[in-house]
Amino acid sequence: MDAIVYTQIKTSIKRALNIDLEHYKDEQMKRRLDSWLVRTHIETWKDYFQLLSTDQTELERFRNYLTINVTEFFRDPTRWDLVRQDILPYLIKNSKASHPVVGGLKLWSAGCSIGTEAYTMAILMDEAAPTQKYSILATDLDRGALLKARSRGPYSQEDIRSLSLSQRHKYLTPTAPYHAVENLQKNIHFQEQNLITDRFETGFDLIVCRNVVIYFTTEAKDVLYAKFSAALRPGGVLFVGGTEIISSAAKFGLQNFGISFYKKA
Ligand SMILES: C[S@@+](CC[C@H](N)C(=O)[O-])C[C@H]1O[C@@H](n2cnc3c(N)ncnc32)[C@H](O)[C@@H]1O
Repeated sequence: MDAIVYTQIKTSIKRALNIDLEHYKDEQMKRRLDSWLVRTHIETWKDYFQLLSTDQTELERFRNYLTINVTEFFRDPTRWDLVRQDILPYLIKNSKASHPVVGGLKLWSAGCSIGTEAYTMAILMDEAAPTQKYSILATDLDRGALLKARSRGPYSQEDIRSLSLSQRHKYLTPTAPYHAVENLQKNIHFQEQNLITDRFETGFDLIVCRNVVIYFTTEAKDVLYAKFSAALRPGGVLFVGGTEIISSAAKFGLQNFGISFYKKA
C-alpha cells in the first residue's frame, strides 16, 4: 500500500469510526488493512468505504478487526498470581496507610475489550480480599466489545480456559454460552473511552493496561504512560502486558516493581 492511499484510508477511518491511525504503527497497520481488503473480496478501498457508509454491520466488523479485541479470563495466569500474592496485599496496605478511601480500592481495566479482564479483577477481589471495598472502571473504544462486556458474555471455551472448575462453578452460568454471573458485575463500571484522546479520572490504586499499546507509536505510548502516571495515586501500580516494557519509566515518575509492574513514586 503506498503512502497516499494509506493517508486517504486513515482519513476515511477517522471519519467513519473516529479512530485515529496516526497513533498506531504504520507498517503493522498497513499489513492488517491489506489483508482485510483481501478477505472482504472488494477490489478497492473506495468501494469498501462506500459500503461502510450504508452497512452498519460491516462497519462494526471493521471496527472490531481494527481494534483487535482478543482477550480471556486470567490471561497470563502467572502474572495474575503475582497480583494475588504480592500486588493486592501491597495495595491494601498502602491504601490503609495513606488515605483510607470511602469507596475502597480504585481499579481500572484500560482497554478492557469484552470484559474478561475486569471480571478477572472482580474474581480476584472476591477470592483474595472478600471484605475489601473496591470499584473497577473498565474502558475501551470499541462499542461492540463494550456491549458484550456489559452483557457479561457470551464467553467461549477459549475465553474461560484458565478458570478452574470451582471458579467456573462460582462465577459463570452453568452451561455454554457462558456468561459471568450478575453479582460479579456489581462493582464494575464499563465506559467508552479513547485512551489517547480522552481525559482520565485520577486516584487509581491499580491500572491494568495489557496488550493494548502493542500497535501504538512510541509517541502515543509516551503520552499514555504520562497520563497513566498522573492518574495513579502515589504508590499506585500500573500492570502492563507480558511483552511490554516501559524503558524510560523514571521519565513518567514510575519505577519498576517486578516484571510487568510499575509503581508511581
Ligand atoms: C488485545 S485487546 C486486550 C484486552 C485485555 N486488556 C487483555 O489483555 O486481555 C486490546 C483492546 O484495546 C482496545 N484499544 C485499542 N486502542 C485503544 C484506544 N486508543 N483506546 C481505548 N482502547 C483501545 C481495543 O479496542 C481492544 O479491545
